[in-house]
Amino acid sequence: MSAAKCADAVQVQLLSGVKYAFCTCGGSAKYPCCDGTHRGTEFRPVKFVAEQDEQAWLCVCKKSKSPPRCDGTGCPS
Ligand code: FES
Repeated sequence: MSAAKCADAVQVQLLSGVKYAFCTCGGSAKYPCCDGTHRGTEFRPVKFVAEQDEQAWLCVCKKSKSPPRCDGTGCPS
């Protein structure tokens, strides 16, 4: 397990081969997973399939250049 790059990143357990939809609107009751609350807005979830079982840090600030993963782009130094 690695440390968070940002204080705002959220850690999740990903399972290999499972499809995920990461909420980008911030309104999901199941955050960080999309629950459809974004419907009617300009937001869309970031859909991806986990390539391996892992603990991952997902970007909450929406500034990552490799969403949904936190890459440290929007983090204060
Ligand atoms: S509920 Fe937020 S993107 Fe779907």
